[in-house]
Amino acid sequence: MNLLIMGPPGGGKGTQCEVLTKEHNITHISTGDMFRENVKAGTELGKKAKEYMDNGQLVPDELVVAMVKDRLSKPDCENGFLLDGFPRTTPQAEALDGALTEMGIKLDAVLNIAVPREKLLGRLTGRRVCRSCGATYHVIFNPPKDEGKCGNCGGELYQRSDDTEATVNQRLDVYEAQTAPLIEYYAKQGLLKEVNGDQDIKIVTQDVLASLGR
Ligand code: AP5
Ligand code: MG
Ligand code: ZN
Repeated sequence: MNLLIMGPPGGGKGTQCEVLTKEHNITHISTGDMFRENVKAGTELGKKAKEYMDNGQLVPDELVVAMVKDRLSKPDCENGFLLDGFPRTTPQAEALDGALTEMGIKLDAVLNIAVPREKLLGRLTGRRVCRSCGATYHVIFNPPKDEGKCGNCGGELYQRSDDTEATVNQRLDVYEAQTAPLIEYYAKQGLLKEVNGDQDIKIVTQDVLASLGR
């Protein structure tokens, strides 16, 4: 199964991907995670991306598209994949369509997790992420059992450098201007499945799985 998950910053894409990838045994491809790994490793790509990310701006299309095409060609994508945070602009969506056609594969569904803007700032400023396994928590909505410590692996929890109030507001503006139009793009292709993301995490998971027919 080849899936794509969309939604605003803080909408719960990463949180739902943790379950979806296990349930369908598919590979999680988060462009945000890939950029953060490059930043951590100090690569040229990471140096370029960090400036955009910390300002709440999108990394230029050509850098993102090249990175995703390379990732999709890896053997672990043959069983299916779940794209998270890509595409984010119309040129990226068109490039993805072209790449998939070249590879002779198609998307099975596009999930859109909808959450009203006023809920997103609190979700993002309260987010904590595991440094070792990437699991996502929230200080109020999904707290770890032991404060500051990952329940999966015992790793240290940290706060993303782009989860400050000013950067979040910028990210939300960029989302509305550049990414939200893709909802219509995929609706026209008949692939869109809308899920109400403004519910308890477990209910959203049930709705996500149900929308995919299980
Ligand atoms: P990226 O890492 O993709 O960030 P994002 O799209 O802003 O989305 P987030 O990861 O912040 O949110 P999420 O939807 O995954 O929410 P989560 O599940 O963590 O991208 C970062 C940056 O990289 C971009 O700004 C850009 O610069 C660059 N970039 C990446 N891809 C790019 C591309 N294609 N093109 C150009 N640039 C690109 O949940 C958030 C919080 O809410 C958590 O604390 C969670 O516990 C909590 N939560 C989740 N669900 C619920 C719920 N139902 N109720 C209550 N709390 C909840
Ligand atoms: Mg995410
Ligand atoms: Zn962990």
